[in-house]
Amino acid sequence: NDNNLPIACIVIPTYNEKENIEKTILKVLEVKKTIQSFNLVILVVDDNSQDGTSETVNQLMMRHHDIHMINGEKICLGDAYKRGFSYAQKELNSRLIVQMDADGQHDPNVIKTFVELAINGKELIIGSRFIAGSSTPDFSSWRRLISLVGNFLVRYLGGVYMIKDCTSGFRCIDVNLLKQCKLDRLSSKGYSFQSTLICELMRNDARAIEIPIIFNKREYGQSKLSFYDQIEFLINIARIRFRNSEDFIRYCIVGILGVCVNFMTYFTLTRFTGWAPELASPVAIEISIISNFICHNFWTFIKRTKQEIFINRFFKFHIVAGIAGIINYAFFITLINALIINDLISLFLGIAIGTVFNYAGNSLWTFRKPSL
Ligand code: GDD
Ligand code: MN
Repeated sequence: NDNNLPIACIVIPTYNEKENIEKTILKVLEVKKTIQSFNLVILVVDDNSQDGTSETVNQLMMRHHDIHMINGEKICLGDAYKRGFSYAQKELNSRLIVQMDADGQHDPNVIKTFVELAINGKELIIGSRFIAGSSTPDFSSWRRLISLVGNFLVRYLGGVYMIKDCTSGFRCIDVNLLKQCKLDRLSSKGYSFQSTLICELMRNDARAIEIPIIFNKREYGQSKLSFYDQIEFLINIARIRFRNSEDFIRYCIVGILGVCVNFMTYFTLTRFTGWAPELASPVAIEISIISNFICHNFWTFIKRTKQEIFINRFFKFHIVAGIAGIINYAFFITLINALIINDLISLFLGIAIGTVFNYAGNSLWTFRKPSL
């Protein structure tokens, strides 16, 4: 009767996990028995482990027909996942893909919850180590710090601040959602694949949820996370930020338009209607703020306007503009007086800092993306 059920494929990358893989697979097969709505299959992606991992898996495959394996060159974790995802979709016709570690740190029982939530319409379910109810008993303070700092950077620079654990290796993804993402464009490198993937899935408006997990102690062996992976992770965040700069570019275009509106209003009022500069200038500023707001609301951040009522956004936009103006001015004054920098350069730097603040304020507050 399994044959009529949609397939959920548990993709398990392995590199030298001989001691762990059998136990992990057997546990997943136990969980499989308790799930009626999906047919659970296992796909091991082994990168020619020298310790005989694939021989162990081969033996299990002779006894259980729900285990599959692909073997390849050891490149990195991200590359292994990409190959696994592609095989799960094309060869196994999976509807759900679950990412899971082989080393016992992820409790296979959580897969039950994954599947239930997927049935209820969630397209991305993250087993999270950093929300209420989670724990990471095995993490050293150092590893915990690295993970938290890394996550902070991905969240705020990658625009996925609604997610607390962007690097988790335990999650369930709907294949239809995955199909919308351009996987081959993603960084396939090491562990940073995890965070790139999250950003890409969220860019495609994934219906996502985080559930707490206990990130257990590794059974045998040690983590394969290298120093190089961590450096690459940082480089990758810069790439994500750059790729996400579409919003920021729109923001700047609107900003330039705002300057023109400001100038034209001021010019019209002073030259054609004879207003005094003292009065014409604030009116011109206000009109340009309003026109900027309208452009951001209906263009730059059009997708983010369900959160808050129009008038509140309008109000917040003014506050951000005011503070950004003060920051701009304070910078300008400091640069020309204290640091004695050329006034035109100072003017430019002041505007640049003000713009970045303005963007951050409106992106993270006025037009904040919804939480999960
Ligand atoms: N095929 C393949 N190729 N598998 C690999 C490779 C590789 O190059 N590198 C690591 N793996 C496998 C390991 O064998 C293990 O099953 C799984 O990927 C996770 O590797 P670990 O070395 O145990 O990672 P970790 O525990 O340090 O890291 C965990 O947390 C990270 C974020 O903090 C994992 O869950 C990562 O996926 C996660 O990004
Ligand atoms: Mn591990």
